[in-house]
Amino acid sequence: MTRPWPATPAFLRRLTQFNRRWRQRHRCLARWTGGGWWARGSVISPELRAWYNAFLPPDELQRDLRLLALDDLPQRSLLPSALEPDAPPPLSVPDWWATLNDDFAGHLDLEPDSFPALLCNLADPSRMGTDTGRYPEQTAPLLDWLDRQPASNRLRLLDLGCGVGLGTYELAALLDDRNRPAEVRGVTAEGLEVWMASHRRLPHDPCRQRRFPTLRPHTAVAVSFRRGHAEDYCDDDAGAAYDLIVCNGLAGGRFLSAPPQLNAFLDTLERLLAPTGLVLLGNRFHDGSRPGVERLMRLAVQRGWSLSGHWQSLQLERRPRRPY
Ligand SMILES: C[S@@+](CC[C@H](N)C(=O)[O-])C[C@H]1O[C@@H](n2cnc3c(N)ncnc32)[C@H](O)[C@@H]1O
Repeated sequence: MTRPWPATPAFLRRLTQFNRRWRQRHRCLARWTGGGWWARGSVISPELRAWYNAFLPPDELQRDLRLLALDDLPQRSLLPSALEPDAPPPLSVPDWWATLNDDFAGHLDLEPDSFPALLCNLADPSRMGTDTGRYPEQTAPLLDWLDRQPASNRLRLLDLGCGVGLGTYELAALLDDRNRPAEVRGVTAEGLEVWMASHRRLPHDPCRQRRFPTLRPHTAVAVSFRRGHAEDYCDDDAGAAYDLIVCNGLAGGRFLSAPPQLNAFLDTLERLLAPTGLVLLGNRFHDGSRPGVERLMRLAVQRGWSLSGHWQSLQLERRPRRPY
């Protein structure tokens, strides 16, 4: 695997200390318990957690990984939020492994060249499920909307909570296929997601990296990414309003479901959307998140939005449409 940025001497020194310390602790655990006994798919019982926590304290691991990351990353803003000083540590090291790809789970000796991939995996854990082709029911309203846009208009599209950008490029490819000049911007919370999306690289997941949709050479569709939050995003380049805003897998889910956040999210939509613009909200949440999405739907109606579709695939417009 090619390292995306060069390793600094400070990082390499700290990594040697890290590996010595955590390998030794892991060996001690194995001696006491007759072998490590976490494997992918194991139930993480309170007893297993207690054993691991006695030898491999998760808050210390989180701190040591943060220090390593700060020595390795080219910019502080790329630090995964899971390593920020105010982020809650995982319940135990097995709980942490369970969120990671196989390359990083089950051991604590880290390779210098794969450390950036581990950081990318922390910023984009597999539970995020970011991928292409996740919201096929959005295609019909999207094409219907596109047909209604004057052909000469340079369209502006925003993808809020875009993750590593696979869906953003999919949107761009759809416009590119139809020869529609456009600017497509993806906004997401993690600095490393912005890096991965902008570079079209997923160092932790080469399989998924192959699924970045490609645009034709000399395309009239420009794609860009910024770090930001759906509750207060403002364009740094003060562009015009957006004709279409997409927000998938975010609104009403675990990242954004409290009423103040939902109202702030609606403020963002109202500030950034052109008066005749369209908002598409999709999700693949399980039923437990449905009340969060329905809360958003109620607030939107109270604020004068017209809604159509269903809770996992909604269309919102400012102009009156048939009532939901
Ligand atoms: C479940 S993923 C969805 C990614 C992509 N839209 C999709 O549907 O495939 C949610 C994404 O939102 C980002 N995120 C979390 N909180 C956010 C916020 N407040 N504003 C913008 N993005 C956020 C996460 O980093 C993550 O990439």
